[in-house]
Amino acid sequence: MAKDKAFSRLPGFRDFPPEDLQIRSHIFEAWRRTSRRYGFQEYDGPPLEALELYTEKSGEEIVGQLYAFRDKGGREVTLRPEMTPSLARILGERSRALPKPIRWFTMPQLFRYERQQRGRLREHFQWNVDIVGEAGVGADAEVLAVAIDALRELGLTVEDFRARFSDRRLLSALLKNAGVTDELLVAAYGVVDKLEREDRSRSVQRLEQECGLTGSQAEEVVELFTAGGLEEVARTHGGDPSLAQVLAELEEYRAILAGLGLGDFVEFDLKIVRGLAYYTGIVFELFDRKGEFRAICGGGRYDRLLELVGGDPLPAVGFGMGDVVLGELLAGRGLLPAVGREVDLFLVSVVPGLRPLVLEVARAQRARGRSVAYSLREQSVRKQFSAASSEGARRVVVLGPHEVERGVAVVRDMRIGTEDRVSLDLLRRGEGVDGEEV
Ligand code: HAM
Repeated sequence: MAKDKAFSRLPGFRDFPPEDLQIRSHIFEAWRRTSRRYGFQEYDGPPLEALELYTEKSGEEIVGQLYAFRDKGGREVTLRPEMTPSLARILGERSRALPKPIRWFTMPQLFRYERQQRGRLREHFQWNVDIVGEAGVGADAEVLAVAIDALRELGLTVEDFRARFSDRRLLSALLKNAGVTDELLVAAYGVVDKLEREDRSRSVQRLEQECGLTGSQAEEVVELFTAGGLEEVARTHGGDPSLAQVLAELEEYRAILAGLGLGDFVEFDLKIVRGLAYYTGIVFELFDRKGEFRAICGGGRYDRLLELVGGDPLPAVGFGMGDVVLGELLAGRGLLPAVGREVDLFLVSVVPGLRPLVLEVARAQRARGRSVAYSLREQSVRKQFSAASSEGARRVVVLGPHEVERGVAVVRDMRIGTEDRVSLDLLRRGEGVDGEEV
């Protein structure tokens, strides 16, 4: 093929050569271990879904980013941009038969046609952890604890990240109190969501122009949302009966997380809105403390979604944590594992006639679960040793004619450079290379 026609990767998509896949696996394993530690079971669904599953339920932002098309059967379909609607659909068909609460996790690859920027690609893997069938705030606290623990599992500490939480019920009540009508609530969420990234005067202007507020109402909203801690909101709005219950729940939420030893990781922040339309209660996001990266993770309670996709009305809460920002953060903090090749044994034959013996030892050692490599064609001893070192062999078994005649082989430990003579009979039986920790 002519060079100018060489294919390149689509923008926003990644290849995973082995060294990158090792990093991905490192993250996946931490996600899996943490999920299991909290008693969650793994599930999955199809990467292609009916378009309708997202239009209306997920909100405008994500719908504008869909990889959607009409399939050959004339169906409107899309690559999944998130997992939550699929979870709701899957449970809709079977939740009645399942003991509650349902604790499920998954790690799907998702697709969003995003504007390219740091931390945002057009595909990513997203760990989803959800509890379905429990309306109490204990479930909200439990999923946040899972998210925090996974980051700790990967070596991050309270110095590196924090969780910020708020509540959609609180947000809507405060905005309505300030004069925002039901129809303009979503527009006002959009402004609050950008308070941190937008100029104060621009936010005030948008609240006036897009959300129907007067100048002084708009100022008040910006003031409350930028300054408001939970105590401040309780002091100014605690008398409002519609808010008293929410405020009590948020206190309980904080107390449970403190009981789990995670109090230092969480703080209330009224500016946390979340982009998706289906959230109904507590919402949260995890950020690096230095504010260098985009959100590592986001989630919250969505009590109406299962019903909306045609299932039993069941309360639900969960989060999604992507691999992209997390990978950047781990790299930035020097927490990625050293990647490289590794085999337990490399078999070197000093003369060509020993090939059958190489194959026999390889078969026996592999049958015992050891990883074994050898040169796939005749090569000089020097080349075989250099192959052994580029394979990352921990030990090299040298099969030479004189030793073989005497029924032994030389086993060299490549890390400490020691050599042992080992009986060929043992090697042929898959033994002879001390114990299991070869
Ligand atoms: P989300 O906030 O859209 O939530 O995504 C969750 C996380 O996925 C983000 O914080 C980010 O780490 C990662 N992420 C999202 N989009 C991209 C992208 N284009 N490139 C790289 N990483 C990305 C949801 O998707 C909800 N369904 C989560 C959820 C589960 N809520 C309840 N259960």
